[in-house]
Order: sequence, then C-alpha cells, then structure tokens
Amino acid sequence: MLIAQISDLHIQRDGKPAYGVVDTVTMLKKAVETLNALDPQPDVVLATGDLVERGSAEEYAILTEILKPLKAPLLVVPGNHDARGPLAKAFPEIGKRVGDSEFFHYAVDEFPVRLIGYDTTVPKHHHGEVCAARAEWLDRTLAAGGDKPTMIFLHHPPFRTRIAVMDKSGLANSDRMAAVVAKYPNVERILCGHIHRSIQARFAGTIASVAPSTAHQIAMDIRDDAPLCFNMDPPGFQLHAWAPDNGIVSYTAAIGDYGEPIKFPW
Ligand SMILES: [Fe+2]
Ligand SMILES: [Fe+2]
Repeated sequence: MLIAQISDLHIQRDGKPAYGVVDTVTMLKKAVETLNALDPQPDVVLATGDLVERGSAEEYAILTEILKPLKAPLLVVPGNHDARGPLAKAFPEIGKRVGDSEFFHYAVDEFPVRLIGYDTTVPKHHHGEVCAARAEWLDRTLAAGGDKPTMIFLHHPPFRTRIAVMDKSGLANSDRMAAVVAKYPNVERILCGHIHRSIQARFAGTIASVAPSTAHQIAMDIRDDAPLCFNMDPPGFQLHAWAPDNGIVSYTAAIGDYGEPIKFPW
C-alpha cells in the first residue's frame, strides 16, 4: 500500500499569492502533477491541514477545482487555517465519515493500513489541542481497530520541533495523546503538518513526522529567539510505502522539475 502525504497548501481566494509572494495555486497544481506522475500510483493521498488560508467556502471551491485532476483518492484533516463546516461541505464524502461529531475525526478501514484522521484544531486559534474528549475518542477508535497497522494523520505535531514560534502554537496537552498512543504498538506513524518542513521525532513509542508544505517552507532556524520566517526551499511531499513483510518506509521528495533521472554509467 502506498500513502502519499501533502500538507499546508494554503490556497487563497482569487488565487492571490499568499503573503504577497507565494503562488500557492500554481504550486499545488505542480504537486498534483507530481503525484499523478508517480508510478506506481499511491492508493490514497492524505492532506494534513491548512488546505486554505482563511477557511472560506470560496477558497475551498478553488481548492477542490485544483484537486479535481488528482487520480488517487484524497483524505483531509483540518489545520488552524481551515474551518470544519466549509471543509465538510467541500469534501462531502469525508464529511459523511465525520458524521455529526463535533470534531473532524474519522477512521478509514478499507485499506491494509488503517488510517485515522484526527482533528486537533481549536476554532479561531493557531494552536491545537488534545482535550479529554479527543483523547477518549482516540483511545476508543484505536481499541476498535484491533492490531491492524495504523497511521494517525493530523495537523499539529505532538512533539516540540524547536522552531520556537511554531512550538508556541503547537499541540496543547499532547501528553494525553502520548498516553493513549503508548498503549497501541500497532500505531506505525503519526503524520503531521503545520511546520512546513520535513521533521521526524520519536513519540510515545512510535514515529511522528511532519511533511513539507506544497508551497512555502518555514525557515530551519532552531535558535530559541529566532523570528518566524518562511523561505522558498523546494516544496515537497512524502510517500509512505507499506508492505506486510517490511512495515512502513517513508520518503520525502521535492516537487518541481529537476530534470530527468540520469542513469549511472556502470
Ligand atoms: Fe500551514
Ligand atoms: Fe498550521
């Protein structure tokens, strides 16, 4: 099973460049082209939040139009820039999975790897939260899945990334998540976004990771007093490849045209 992950698309209304300089629309179109060119094709694409900039229906309409040519099925979770209601309307099939839950949570059982979309957002705030109700939901949902290999995908990483300003808008009460995840050794990965950069850390006995953005990246500045800056490092995506005899192997790849593969001469 192949699981592609994109994150932090930040689509703006009227296709306006984000922060005046980042053409997120064109960059997402390139991401879709890159994913569509993968051979073999991913079985599913996960988008780990910040799909649009302000959570408006107009932005989601632009987003779904750009995503239309994507060949693989798509699953999404909200980030701090999204809004649950308009998101569910833009992706009605996923909205059905969520049902009338207060949170945009759902489990997908139809693949060899179980996928759990987990909503960490706090409306109108940049940080995320694992409240008692969400910890309880995760525990119940993991218990219901038996020992099938499982990935949890969410927006806010549950670990300190050391990109100081981003950690201030990190995942509050992530220790609640750690206590739940530690009970389930079949949680193979916790896949996140929010930090716009490829990062991995050990967390609660599993591997937690952040995917790069399809648009701008957050500067890799881990000084305690670093200001929050973005840069135009190559955008990217991740591919998580599962096989029954090999578990999951994860790759980070750049989006963009860097020329044809060059065969070694020997
Ligand atoms: Fe973001
Ligand atoms: Fe975010």
